[in-house]
Amino acid sequence: MIRLDKYLADMGAGTRQEVKKYIRQGQVTVDGQPAKKPEMKVDELCQVVAVSGTRVSYKMYEYYMMNKPKGVVSATSDKKEKTVLDLMEDIKRRDLFPAGRLDKDTEGLLLITNDGGLAHRLLSPKKHVDKCYYASVSGIVTDEDVLCFKEGIDIGAGKEKEITLPARLEILKTGEISEVRLTIQEGKFHQVKRMFKALGKEVLYLKRERMGNLVLDPFLLPGQYRNLTEEELKLL
Ligand code: URA
Repeated sequence: MIRLDKYLADMGAGTRQEVKKYIRQGQVTVDGQPAKKPEMKVDELCQVVAVSGTRVSYKMYEYYMMNKPKGVVSATSDKKEKTVLDLMEDIKRRDLFPAGRLDKDTEGLLLITNDGGLAHRLLSPKKHVDKCYYASVSGIVTDEDVLCFKEGIDIGAGKEKEITLPARLEILKTGEISEVRLTIQEGKFHQVKRMFKALGKEVLYLKRERMGNLVLDPFLLPGQYRNLTEEELKLL
């Protein structure tokens, strides 16, 4: 059971204040009867709620895949910067958040949802869910680097050691600028950049390609997003 005003605001029928006004004005019906009290409890699974005669169905959880572009922050709101949610102008629901952060200059797969349980399962280091990145890196990446990533790297600044979990580094191209694919199972602050920095290299470009079994849709351009399919949801 859920309050009628929350039900309508969650579904993007208006702000909490706006939907309270619609309810008081008699524009909202529950099972065909006008509902006058915003605090009225409705059963979101079986009752029929309508505003001005148009049914508003309740979706408990929503899941979107975004190809995050550079230049926006992975936050729900920010005083100065544009956020990933600012890019989702046509989505009116107000309780969405990005499940895990990508740096402002990182691109790629971002899951945006209101399902806190799923977010926790994907992000907890104890759950060992893969996060796979493509990166271009300054300098020659060597087989020795592959071993270092496999053994865990100290990314702690100064005295405090901070050893990462074993990570899988695949060299795609070596040269003055190397290309790699890196799979980690944690999400420490700036983790990929700090791992390469610890080996004297700099990440020049970073894109997340996969989280667990969820792969970034290659047809999504940076800044675009779409609902997850039923199959993708099952993979999570
Ligand atoms: N590691 C980083 O350094 N940055 C990201 O955005 C993600 C992982």
